Amino acid sequence: MGSVQERNRSLWVATTDRGEYPPLDGRAGVAGVAGVAQVTSDVDRSDSHSDRDLCVDVAIAGAGIAGLTLARLLSAEGLKVAVVDRGDICAGATGYTTAKVTALHRLIYADIEESFGLAAARTYAQANQAAVAKVAELVATDGIDCDIQSADAYTYAAQDEAMASIQAEAQSAQRAGLNITTTQQTDLPYPVAGAISLSGQYQFHPRKYCMGLAGATIQLGGSVFSHTTAVGVQDEHTLVTDRGTIRADAVVLATHLPFLDRGGYFARCEPKRSYATALRIHGDMPRGMYISADEPIRSVRSTGDGYLIVGGEGHKVAHDTDTERRYRALENWARANFDVASVEYRWSAQDYVTADRLPYIGRNTHGSEHVFVATGFGKWGMSNATVAAMILSDIIQGRANPWAETFDSTRVAVKQSAKRVAVASVDVAKRFIGDRISSIHPPSIDALAPGCGAIVGSDGDKVAAFRDDDGTLHALSAICTHLGCQVNFNTAERTWDCPCHGSRFDLEGDVLEGPAVKPLAVKPSAEKDL
Ligand code: FES
Repeated sequence: MGSVQERNRSLWVATTDRGEYPPLDGRAGVAGVAGVAQVTSDVDRSDSHSDRDLCVDVAIAGAGIAGLTLARLLSAEGLKVAVVDRGDICAGATGYTTAKVTALHRLIYADIEESFGLAAARTYAQANQAAVAKVAELVATDGIDCDIQSADAYTYAAQDEAMASIQAEAQSAQRAGLNITTTQQTDLPYPVAGAISLSGQYQFHPRKYCMGLAGATIQLGGSVFSHTTAVGVQDEHTLVTDRGTIRADAVVLATHLPFLDRGGYFARCEPKRSYATALRIHGDMPRGMYISADEPIRSVRSTGDGYLIVGGEGHKVAHDTDTERRYRALENWARANFDVASVEYRWSAQDYVTADRLPYIGRNTHGSEHVFVATGFGKWGMSNATVAAMILSDIIQGRANPWAETFDSTRVAVKQSAKRVAVASVDVAKRFIGDRISSIHPPSIDALAPGCGAIVGSDGDKVAAFRDDDGTLHALSAICTHLGCQVNFNTAERTWDCPCHGSRFDLEGDVLEGPAVKPLAVKPSAEKDL
């Protein structure tokens, strides 16, 4: 295996090329990109915006499945769109999923019905079923070669103790309108106490799918820019990036977690990391898409070209620094249940779970008329992100959408979710206080072995120190640039992760995940200065 970055690349990212999407580069760069609209009728151009601004109808930050599906839908209706992404396109959360396209989301319908009532559960089911159908429709319409396969989705109980939740979910999902069946028969190689299943779902290669959406968007006159970081929104109509600005009638933040703090999404979503491996096995592959109701969660699916994907081991971001053990646990479990020939890929993903489990889709704030968000897909981003694109496409074009109210991003935290919000807030407060106390006696820099990272220093000047494999010390500020929590070292990914709202930074301090938009400051790395 090669570097950490290569070792932890997902099957999806490793089996596709980076894609040739240029960065936004002011007017000069715009001229070289097919499909860019220089002028649109809907945008007021009489104010002071620069003539170097790119002008479109809709500017979208985030080239994952949410942003690109929206771009594709809007482009097909004649709107000019521009999509930007901080890195390669579809190489963020969308490139690090297990890629199940289903309306069966482990155990969620019973929760939604209890919190919001049956009507909301029905809406969630309808929206996600429509999203599953929309994915299949776009694959067919655009001729996207993304290894899509029809598959049955299962939530199973490995042990009798999980059967009560399986039965409750079966009843709620059926009331919500899903054609759920209950069974004890699966094609897993180990017995289950019981399961619910939903047929007619899909699995695919998510990066091939999203690159297909990007290609279709460009063919329809839109633009897609990679390596262009969105850093702000001005006057509701200008998406500011590190490579120039985009003037638009509407701005959509599809950046996983919105980087604008105004909507407070960082405080209403819990950042979670989870892990996956792609294996070669001897013997028959299961063809269903499985997830356990039991903890720790185990997710299983196969691919048409012979990989078994095993996922699970979720935890709050930066609440476990020994992340290598998470990969070991998955591999050990896979070896105990399958005849594993080799481990080919491993990767981890970040997801945001909302306080009430429904995604936030809609306006950024109550007063925001032109800035929209889509976040909090709760680990079911393939379908929920497609729901988001369908809702936002309607809202932006002034059409009523039957699901919009249920997913409304400006909803006040309902009573049922207040406890979860409070618990999350207490946890964040603990990080502010606890991190500072634990750093009173920080580890010695001398004890930092090659390949290891730790918070060192004292007297309020904490340093995130990493010693590379050559023995060279790399030092960064340990204080997250979002709201000032102290970052933790992630051993498996070799990143600095913030326990409060999930921002992540690489070893140079550059932002890998928001809501932070500024890098960690580089500190003097001479050991005598620490
Ligand atoms: Fe908010 Fe770090 S992500 S303080």
